Amino acid sequence: MTKRLKIITRLARTPLPSHHSHENISLRAARSHRYNHHALNATLSTSANPLREGLSSRPLPQPCSVVIFGASGDLTYRKLIPALYNIAADGDLPAALSVVGFARREKTDETFRTELEEAARKFSRSGVDDEVWSSFAERIFYHRSEFGDADGYKRLADRLNQLDEERGTRGNRLFYLSVAPSEFEGILKHLSAAGLNKTVEGSWARVIVEKPFGTDLPSAQELNTVVSTAFAEKDTYRIDHYLGKETAQNLMVLRFANSIFEPLWNHRYIDHVQITASEPLGVEQRGPYYESSGALRDMVQNHLIQLLCLTAMEPPTDLSADSVRDEKVKIVRALRPMSPEDVAQNVVRGQYVDGAIAGKEVKAYRAEDRVNPESMTETYVALKVNVDNWRWEGVPFYVRMGKRLPKGGTEIAVQFKSAPNVLFNKLSEPLAPNVLVIRIQPDEGISLRMQCKMPGAALRIEPVKMDFHYGTSFGKASPEAYERLLLDAMAGDATLFARRDEVEGAWAFIDHIENAWHQNQTPPPLAFYPSGSWGPKEADDLLARDGREWRRM
Ligand code: BG6
Repeated sequence: MTKRLKIITRLARTPLPSHHSHENISLRAARSHRYNHHALNATLSTSANPLREGLSSRPLPQPCSVVIFGASGDLTYRKLIPALYNIAADGDLPAALSVVGFARREKTDETFRTELEEAARKFSRSGVDDEVWSSFAERIFYHRSEFGDADGYKRLADRLNQLDEERGTRGNRLFYLSVAPSEFEGILKHLSAAGLNKTVEGSWARVIVEKPFGTDLPSAQELNTVVSTAFAEKDTYRIDHYLGKETAQNLMVLRFANSIFEPLWNHRYIDHVQITASEPLGVEQRGPYYESSGALRDMVQNHLIQLLCLTAMEPPTDLSADSVRDEKVKIVRALRPMSPEDVAQNVVRGQYVDGAIAGKEVKAYRAEDRVNPESMTETYVALKVNVDNWRWEGVPFYVRMGKRLPKGGTEIAVQFKSAPNVLFNKLSEPLAPNVLVIRIQPDEGISLRMQCKMPGAALRIEPVKMDFHYGTSFGKASPEAYERLLLDAMAGDATLFARRDEVEGAWAFIDHIENAWHQNQTPPPLAFYPSGSWGPKEADDLLARDGREWRRM
């Protein structure tokens, strides 16, 4: 091994502080124009002096107050506070930061902190260190108010000003709307009336909006209009937590930082792409929400279309937020709209009936808490999507999502065309084609299936896998998506957030399917599948008609 190679291998195995890995330095730093120059320096200095590798030049999160609307909600306890705590534990929080929980229930700062500590101990990916927690907890405050009480917002403004003075948060505000979309309008109106959407020169106010962002195109447009009355698009951060997942971010690095993939990444070499999100969980306590949503709106319109865009997009001209999102929007616009006949042909909707998951009996969707016993809501969906552009002409993207499937996992499988039917491919059974699998979760990594000769005198050819695992290569767990996204919002980097036109474009595509299901005299049937199976047979037929099959996960 050469000296240089040894250094690289050693670095790859050394646990690095979060956000400081090789790829991250260049990608994160270079994402905005402003930082291109620094990124170049970081890259150059890294190769010149590997000991400087840990120096990141990504946009830094700025001092601010994070105000969480819906602070008593599940998301705050399970995701947001554990994420902020882990950022603090990694030493990445801005020195001046306050977290203000805004909710209706009566609580003191102290009781709020105690409840959050309990939650953090349960949900933090790295456990909780007493010392780190107690210094983090000092930055947390509770603000009791009704969402519709104008006075509550005036008091909030006073409190934030006071925190600015005491803690040096510099008038910067990050409002996190972790509430039902029906609350958005009221909250934003009151924020504006209290002048909280505007800031003095040199500081900023941003809003993070949680999903679901609308239930169809008209409602998404309406929400966008509502949000835009209070915040400019550049200050609006629409969360899609899949974009914050480490492996989703790595898709662009894989495609555009390696020279071997790009020449093959098109209809000449790729046969088809499969995107799968499989969950053993049912709908849990979310019956009422799921009844009005279903798998297509809950997972495909946002998360899986985002993964499809990252897989299919053209290389952006630079790594700024808008250049990247411009390319994704082009893919959303190229998704071929489906007529009701296309939907009947290319989309399968399923619903779980009772069965067993990991040997434990589980009930049918229709028997779940607060679910209509005759519900027609889909808990599984499989669809064949065509991307009508030059690169992907004739290459189907098969997308599937299901609840109560046997195993949890999300992956993108890029299947290449078979080797020509000569030489080895002519000898026996056709050889399995090459497949590049990008595992988004769990066991994040990338594998490539190839054919190899088995050792021995006989000519036996077997498929083998070249496999890369994040866990073993980088020696540490990936940060949670929310950590990355919160940091980016504090830093003013919107690359990993969905832009207005992306969200609306995705709804336009999804609406054709929803309409064919719900506004049609003769809607395509709902296919039932036992819990613990890989979904309805109709989904297998969808691929079998094209001479293909779903990958076994
Ligand atoms: C959410 C959906 O957006 O994503 C859930 O509402 C789904 O139904 C979840 O389970 C999946 O996220 P993850 O990160 O667990 O794959």
